[in-house]
Amino acid sequence: MTKRALVLTGGGDCPGLNAVIRAIVKRANLEKNWEVLGSINAFDGILNEPNEIVVLDAQKVAGIHVRGGTIIGTTNKGGPLAWPIKDNQGNWSTVDRSDELIRRLQYLGVDAVINIGGDGSQRISQALYEKGLNIIGVPKTIDNDLSSTDYTFGFQTAVDVATDAVDKLVTTAASHNRILILEVMGRYAGWIALHSAIAGGAEVCLIPEIPYDLNKIYEKLSRRINRGRGFAIIVIAEGARAKDGSISYKNADEIGYQNKKLGGAGDRLMEELKQFDLGVDIRVTNLGHIQRGGSPCAFDRILATQFGVAAFELILEKKFGHMVAYNYPNIVAVPIQEAIEKYNYIDLSSELIKTARGLDMNLGD
Ligand code: F6P
Repeated sequence: MTKRALVLTGGGDCPGLNAVIRAIVKRANLEKNWEVLGSINAFDGILNEPNEIVVLDAQKVAGIHVRGGTIIGTTNKGGPLAWPIKDNQGNWSTVDRSDELIRRLQYLGVDAVINIGGDGSQRISQALYEKGLNIIGVPKTIDNDLSSTDYTFGFQTAVDVATDAVDKLVTTAASHNRILILEVMGRYAGWIALHSAIAGGAEVCLIPEIPYDLNKIYEKLSRRINRGRGFAIIVIAEGARAKDGSISYKNADEIGYQNKKLGGAGDRLMEELKQFDLGVDIRVTNLGHIQRGGSPCAFDRILATQFGVAAFELILEKKFGHMVAYNYPNIVAVPIQEAIEKYNYIDLSSELIKTARGLDMNLGD
């Protein structure tokens, strides 16, 4: 009898999702009795009426590993544990539809689910696993903030995009004698910021792990500008904040949005620095979703493909409740519970931090 694996992509998209999907399908096709289905827009495809489930065959996935985004769509709103509903008065609340989700999957004849997603999605995976669902996790996010894996796919592509932005900002900053601030994504971790700051040669890099002291940044900038080099590049992570300040959030007016929306750290820093009268103009670039779009770099394609093959093999081994992970040079399986327990901050005693300090890069302290 044909067995069915259902794949879904949840949370913010990132380059490499299609490469995982393709690898799962290609690996499954090596088995005689497996079929792969895809749920459109994460769990919504299973819970919507009528449902939106597609068959993912060799033809559907041919060549998609080079494409950004996800061919089966995604969402970072709602989900089976907190499904938004509106009452007659127009007020929104949430309901838990996880039991119904499991019943629907049984009805569809699904034997196992592969959930490709970040922190929030893997929390859902763990809850569903505890309810008895045969589920495997695949870690994705440009933020690289999931622990238990050396890297998530999508991260290196985002670093390439951010580094390219730093390179471009250097030429215009130098021409105008300006301080240019680049705000990058990354949520509560500074991985994208620190990697692109080192790769691009920024003078200052501000990450959530080190609340910054404005006086120290001023000292660094004024030293540099006094030496006759009238420009500087600052890379700031969206989750960065001053020592006595709070993280900068934007209002999320979308119903069922899972996370608090970060943004505005770069603009806030510009206003803070203007008080010091450095004698040069300051401008801000917010890189935004460009970091999540486009074709995955070769590293992310390879990692995503390895994750896809390994995820399907975990189904064959019945290692449910596990997430595939990269533990250089191996692809391993870790309990999802372990992966979601700890947030992956940059270790302040790591080689990466030492390298930045060795370059006299100011980290805000
Ligand atoms: O988690 C990925 C990410 O791009 C974060 O870096 C960012 O804070 C968030 O998603 C943005 O979410 P949205 O696409 O909903 O604006």
